[in-house]
Amino acid sequence: MTATSAIDHLEELAEQFRRQVSEVTDRQGWEALRLQWVGRKQGRLRDLMGRMKDIPADARRTYGQAVNRLKVDVESGLQALEESLATASEAEAQSDVLDITLPGRRPQLGTLHPVTQVMREIESIFAELGYSVAEGPEIEDDYHNFEALNFPLDHPARETQDTFFFDNGMLLRTHTSPVQVRTMLERSAPPIRVICPGRVFRNDNDLRHSPMFHQVEGLAIGEGLSLGDLKGTLEAFIQRLFSADTGVRLRPSFFPFTEPSAEVDITCPFCSGNGCAVCSNTGWMEILGCGMVDPRVLSGCGIDPDRYSGYAFGLGIDRVAMIRYGIPNIRLLFDNDERLLRQIRV
Ligand code: DAH
Repeated sequence: MTATSAIDHLEELAEQFRRQVSEVTDRQGWEALRLQWVGRKQGRLRDLMGRMKDIPADARRTYGQAVNRLKVDVESGLQALEESLATASEAEAQSDVLDITLPGRRPQLGTLHPVTQVMREIESIFAELGYSVAEGPEIEDDYHNFEALNFPLDHPARETQDTFFFDNGMLLRTHTSPVQVRTMLERSAPPIRVICPGRVFRNDNDLRHSPMFHQVEGLAIGEGLSLGDLKGTLEAFIQRLFSADTGVRLRPSFFPFTEPSAEVDITCPFCSGNGCAVCSNTGWMEILGCGMVDPRVLSGCGIDPDRYSGYAFGLGIDRVAMIRYGIPNIRLLFDNDERLLRQIRV
């Protein structure tokens, strides 16, 4: 090898070293690089020094100087690389450190849906009055949804305009009253006191109606229960749900499964009964339907109407939520717009 080509080779080695440095990412890589270049036994620089004797005498000095320059470059390159790896790993370690003096991060709490809030409140009021919660299926049959509740075969509520029917004759329950029937059939020995909250479905859709909405049904069966018990229970419930001075009135009405039947109005919570736009200036708002369970319904469910009597009521939960929170349009309840849901916290 001539002196010139030996020196050119050193240039190539310097270039190779720089490339290797740029590829090292960790301490292990650095150690391997160090051994390869300046290792005591097989280090390249040691090897280059050893070749000195093959270089013609007049060029040895120049070659020696070039090897030294490479050595200095390699050593300082290795040192710089070692330092930058150390800084990087320290920064990484720091980022994992838990600073226990920092104030805690508040978890983001969700809120219960307004309908769920009202439903739970209703459940807890009735729990105090001695009622338990019963549930039934949302997909019902004609027998539980209509027939056992004394709906005549030609009753308009059976028409497709109100009821969602499946091809197999099943339907989406149009009210929670079928759960009364199921409860009476299951427990034929009164006393019975249950409320049945849940989703119901009707083919109806406008500002005040949604095809899916919520009701809670109430049922009490025992010996000697009267319309007075019904009225007292509803008054206690309504005054807990709204306010102690809420007026309650029963208006005669009709439901196939109760006799007598009534609709219940409360004094408008927005104007305390003085008349406003919300109650169309009447001072009253209709809130639920109720009545004494028809003896035909009792006997159909295996309960002796000569011995037992009972009352039932049905209330729209969404309507209570709308009144409670001043929500003008029922669909706002089911759009799940966070801006609305966030405002309603208990
Ligand atoms: N099921 C009725 C409806 O959806 C509400 C109702 C009225 C339920 C009177 C009752 C009741 O239990 O006695 O319109």
